[in-house]
Amino acid sequence: MPFLIVRRDITTMDCDAIVNAANTSLLGGGGVDGAIHRAAGPELLAECRTLHGCPTGQAKITGAYRLPCRYVIHTPGPRWRGGGHGEEALLRSSYRTSLELARDNGCQSVAFPLISSGIYGYPRAQALQVAVETIRAFLEEHEMLVYLVIFDPGSFVLEGETYEGLVRRLREERTDTAAKSGLFSAAGRAEKSVCEEAAVCADAAPASLERLVEQLDESFSQMLLRKIDEKHMTDAACYKRANIDRKLFSKIRSDVHYRPSKPTAVAFAVALELSPEETEELLRKAGFALSRSSRFDIIVDYFIRRGEYDIYAINEALFAFDQALLGSL
Ligand code: APR
Repeated sequence: MPFLIVRRDITTMDCDAIVNAANTSLLGGGGVDGAIHRAAGPELLAECRTLHGCPTGQAKITGAYRLPCRYVIHTPGPRWRGGGHGEEALLRSSYRTSLELARDNGCQSVAFPLISSGIYGYPRAQALQVAVETIRAFLEEHEMLVYLVIFDPGSFVLEGETYEGLVRRLREERTDTAAKSGLFSAAGRAEKSVCEEAAVCADAAPASLERLVEQLDESFSQMLLRKIDEKHMTDAACYKRANIDRKLFSKIRSDVHYRPSKPTAVAFAVALELSPEETEELLRKAGFALSRSSRFDIIVDYFIRRGEYDIYAINEALFAFDQALLGSL
């Protein structure tokens, strides 16, 4: 199931469990710990007292009381001491043990804050990387909807050449009027409706009209399933890499005329590692084209043109620019 990054106050999440970035006493504190205890009410502290603390990197579960969720999973992340004291392993352990505890208690959805990235001083870009990698590894083996809840914009930091290149590209596209390399040059064609193409082909040899009608016959769903076969992927491998929920995939597979949202259609193009031209064709069958005027389209095109098909990395960039994420529930 999907992994989504959302900008929210975690105390408002009505998923099965929310995770508290606690301290080893489990007796409350500042930051998200304080917010969760304030929103849950005094009963939460009373139950925490019975737990007699929790070691760093481990996790314990309680009720949620006045919070909209069912459980609170408390995990003390590591305090940053320069990186040479096993901080990364302990932070991974906090995410993993919390996910396992959620699974063991029948949770189908769980929300995390960015553990240790506040008062405990873990460098935010590294804290984000550990969170995404650990959650992704868990979701390779388990079905669960996982949210990473970002409360203040400053806590979401992306670093690295890919991201810097993307920022340059977004700046260029804002000024550049000519069609640039990438889908946009093709998007000009793709922006034509299919009927315009039919009109163009009408003057051409009848064969191209037949080809067009043939292409018209293949729906989004049919092209998707054909590409899965051509790429020798399993359905599960495809929808997991597309960050798509199993139930939604089943709906698409069973309805030949299913019309997905644009983020869902793009998510499958990324999962299948389609070329820019194949991406354009798949999107067109869903009734979409990538344009130069949308940040979402520019970001997606940037990664596809670079052959970077990591949907989690693309979603981090989309989230950083307040765009819809790839994938769907
Ligand atoms: N919802 C979601 N995220 C939040 C919220 C909220 N309401 N409030 C804070 N955060 C974010 C912070 O912006 C930060 O990115 O949670 C992340 C973790 O920050 P902290 O709460 O400071 O937790 P941490 O860095 O793990 O330090 C834990 O702080 O609160 C005390 O008792 C806690 O001693 C422990 C220490």
